[in-house]
Amino acid sequence: MLDSPTRVVVTGAAGFVGSHLCDRLLGMGHEVVGIDSFSDYYERARKKQNLESAREQSGFRLVELDLVDGDVARAIRGAAVVFHLAGQPGVRPSWGDHFDQYVQDNIVATQRLLEALREHPVKRLVFASSSSVYGDAEMFPTKETALPRPVSPYGMTKLAAEHLTFVYMRNFGIPATSLRYFTVYGPRQRPDMAFCRFMEALADGNEIEIYGDGEQTREFTFVSDAVDGTVKAASADVVGQVVNLGGGSRVSVNRVLDTLAEISGIEPRRKYMPAALGDPRHTGASINVARDRLGWEPRVSLREGLAKQWEWFLAASARRPEVSPL
Ligand code: NAD
Ligand code: UGA
Repeated sequence: MLDSPTRVVVTGAAGFVGSHLCDRLLGMGHEVVGIDSFSDYYERARKKQNLESAREQSGFRLVELDLVDGDVARAIRGAAVVFHLAGQPGVRPSWGDHFDQYVQDNIVATQRLLEALREHPVKRLVFASSSSVYGDAEMFPTKETALPRPVSPYGMTKLAAEHLTFVYMRNFGIPATSLRYFTVYGPRQRPDMAFCRFMEALADGNEIEIYGDGEQTREFTFVSDAVDGTVKAASADVVGQVVNLGGGSRVSVNRVLDTLAEISGIEPRRKYMPAALGDPRHTGASINVARDRLGWEPRVSLREGLAKQWEWFLAASARRPEVSPL
């Protein structure tokens, strides 16, 4: 599908993962139409910055559009592949009144895109789903065949969107694949996510807030690995399948902070807070399907990836730590 230059669409192009995906596809010589609504979950300026390198490429076109009520059919016309990453992320804020936004941007937006795809068929739709669909899994590493039981409203909306893509596949032949990303990190990480918050606090000499006892584990995945798997999913024989993309090992939040202290040379001041509602205790991916069907393997270790994110953080914030190193 992507072995020769073609037109592709990336929804959520201005976001953390979407912007990296655009850069990669442009580097491969594809024409990329990036769709994004610049939702206000975090600052617009940050999203514009994410797209800085993509916008320098002649093959890139940005369409500012909300999938919920915009002219989606027009924006996707002529594309061979659609990568659908647009959505309302963030596990912990998905309660209460915020829920409506999750329904809109994760479920309704996906349905609108699927309707547009009936009008303009593509060779592949790759949907960015989430490890959050598993909730508190019974088995680790968790296989794609495990019964999904989200423990957050966010996870529920991602699972609903996954199901929607398969509903449209069954009824209208839309060739969909869902990828379950496991906690992605690296340069441009969203400001609400753990590593970004930890680095910010570390550099400012503030206390680092840890939800719960810090012994919860995550299968952290470096962004270039997530992007590799996403690109491969567009061409591999995985229509109708769900595929986990996990970084290769499970690490506790406490251990992450130890590693970050070694990398930065700054000892974090840890503040333990109540556990956050909606957070699963552990996540861990079985990546055998990705290995077998995508020929994919995560390449970046947590230490290496954290060091890259720390370097990026220092450069991007043009700020040096204000506390004295160890
Ligand atoms: P992000 O917020 O940085 O990017 C999402 C982008 O989608 C944003 O730029 C936003 O403006 C856009 N968007 C939201 N609603 C839209 C709409 N209705 N129409 C058009 N654009 C809209 O988030 P991210 O971390 O890059 O995540 C990308 C996708 O991957 C999301 O769907 C998320 O649920 C999924 N995911 C992310 C992770 C992770 O660890 N970052 C893990 C699992 C799944
Ligand atoms: C991340 C993304 O934000 C979701 O969009 C995505 O769907 C999910 O991964 C996924 O894999 O499906 P999360 O795992 O909560 O969600 O990612 P982080 O925000 O990086 O949090 C990682 C861990 O650090 C969590 O256990 C969280 O409780 C903890 N944390 C986070 C803290 O202790 N303190 C903080 O300030 C932030």
